[in-house]
Amino acid sequence: MAFFDSEAKTYDSWYDTKLGEFVDEIERKCAFNLFLPFEGKRILDIGCGTGNYSIRLAKLGYEVVGIDISDEMLDIAKEKAKGKKLDIEFYNMDIYDLKFDDNEFDGAFSMAAFEFVEDTEKALDEIFRVIKSEGQVLIGTINKDSNWGELYLSEDFQKNSVFKYAHFKTMGDFTRIYQNKIVNKRECLFIPPSINVEDISIEKEKALSHNERGGFICVLWKK
Ligand SMILES: C[S@@+](CC[C@H](N)C(=O)[O-])C[C@H]1O[C@@H](n2cnc3c(N)ncnc32)[C@H](O)[C@@H]1O
Repeated sequence: MAFFDSEAKTYDSWYDTKLGEFVDEIERKCAFNLFLPFEGKRILDIGCGTGNYSIRLAKLGYEVVGIDISDEMLDIAKEKAKGKKLDIEFYNMDIYDLKFDDNEFDGAFSMAAFEFVEDTEKALDEIFRVIKSEGQVLIGTINKDSNWGELYLSEDFQKNSVFKYAHFKTMGDFTRIYQNKIVNKRECLFIPPSINVEDISIEKEKALSHNERGGFICVLWKK
């Protein structure tokens, strides 16, 4: 049983809260602002979970394959894609052992999954293997070096949460790997997790960006 199986039924409810909806919007914009439109079509969504990014990518016209180690998360992803009449392939597969040929995809996308990847370099090697030359690899994850990272690392938060299995990372943990292939990188989510719901706004996010570390980081490589 994968550790996200027990989360599957409630996972998407975070996006129904005002904070969850805002965090999602900020992270989504950060990722899609970095990910450049490209010629190729076939894209791999790694740690696709309940398929939120697989669905967004499919709606943009990409041919999407989503992989995850949790059958329960994948079942929800399949249901959601079917409900939206989107033809997305979903497979139970481990990031360290992708059952695809070399150079099979035009790009790869992975949001909020590298938190659970212990060996970043091994995982990136495997992703780079299945991506064509010039293909893009976009990874977004919680920034260990931020007040969001601090919260997720706290004993209280981890006690009853899947985040006890997490291996949080800083920007430096990514940018030292395939250094010469990095095209762009960005921090976002400057509002703190403790923010009052009524204070959540883009203006606040912008104002805090001048003196806070972003709670989420996105890095884009080109193979
Ligand atoms: C926080 S969810 C993110 C889901 C989705 N990408 C999103 O943004 O909504 C993290 C997902 O990563 C998956 N995951 C964790 N370790 C993995 C691994 N080694 N290989 C593939 N998926 C993994 C989990 O099962 C879970 O569904």
